Amino acid sequence: MADLTTQYLGLDLENPIIVGSSGLTRSADAIARCEAAGAGAVVMKSIFEEQIEKETKEITSHVANVTWHPEAAEYVQTYSRENAVDKYLKELRAAKKAVKIPIIASVHCVSAGAWTEFIRRLEAEGADAIELNLFVMPSGVERAGDRLEQVYFDVLEKLLPTVSVPVSLKLGSYFSGLAHTLVKLGQTGLAGMVLFNRFRAPDIDIENMSIVEADNFSSPTEYVHSLRWISILANRVSCDLAATTGIHDGETVVKELLAGASVVQVCSSLYKNGMGRIDEMKQTLEKWMDEHGFDSIDDFRGNLSQSETANPADWDRVQFMKMSLQM
Ligand SMILES: Cc1cc2nc3c(=O)[nH]c(=O)nc-3n(C[C@H](O)[C@H](O)[C@H](O)COP(=O)(O)O)c2cc1C
Repeated sequence: MADLTTQYLGLDLENPIIVGSSGLTRSADAIARCEAAGAGAVVMKSIFEEQIEKETKEITSHVANVTWHPEAAEYVQTYSRENAVDKYLKELRAAKKAVKIPIIASVHCVSAGAWTEFIRRLEAEGADAIELNLFVMPSGVERAGDRLEQVYFDVLEKLLPTVSVPVSLKLGSYFSGLAHTLVKLGQTGLAGMVLFNRFRAPDIDIENMSIVEADNFSSPTEYVHSLRWISILANRVSCDLAATTGIHDGETVVKELLAGASVVQVCSSLYKNGMGRIDEMKQTLEKWMDEHGFDSIDDFRGNLSQSETANPADWDRVQFMKMSLQM
């Protein structure tokens, strides 16, 4: 029988399927359901800087008619921040008692300062690793790419020396020199990178001519984006790579591992197909390994990465030249 154990961020995992940060991992009970379903690890729902700020505003707006003494306003804001923080720590503490699988805490941050202390508290509660969910929207026409990219390096430079558990960075793909930037980020001391976050996106309702939210769940064809970049970066970045977005079945898990991923993170497929999908993915992976004579994941991981394959140009191909001749 094939051995599905693997390592990610220096942690030992029973298998490479991680439940990604989402409502599926928001509480200790939810995390216990992930373990019961066979997940190798979980990434907790992120605690968001914006979420905490919103809570703070809601609390102060309940008493909008009161004229706030500046000190009192500051106290309430600190209190509600602590409240959100305490809730998160409480769920982590309970989850650590309830499950054996590694728990990766997730922090969405846009600056380093306020979170450094919080991350220490996550460590103290037993977080096995930290996933930083960091995104700078490159929509400002006046800001050049290098200035936007510098934000990522600035945050890591401040945070990494203060953290003793492994840290991974969950990223979008909006970088002007994607491979170059990710290689440089991989040299900062990160233990891993998660490629790529799937952001909430706007869509247009043409009947009402209004802006609406696009589907929050990925489709099974979206995995090709992370597959290409995992394959290009495998063996070139000095940290682990986790693949995410559009990984809906066991065949896709096999592909991402062949491209060079250490693990995969899944969300949408579990929302759509139920938690039983984790077991189906594991069975497909195990069967494929048995049929192809691989005893362990390390026996084939990265075999089709750009640096290992006989035809590296296949991963760079983007135009339709050949197809135009055929169609
Ligand atoms: C309902 C929902 C909530 C999510 N919440 C978070 C979050 O708090 N933090 C985060 O980093 N990603 C969050 N994500 C993104 C997922 O972790 C994942 O990166 C994305 O959904 C792509 O993976 P998938 O194709 O398997 O869904 C969320 C996704 C969904 C669908």
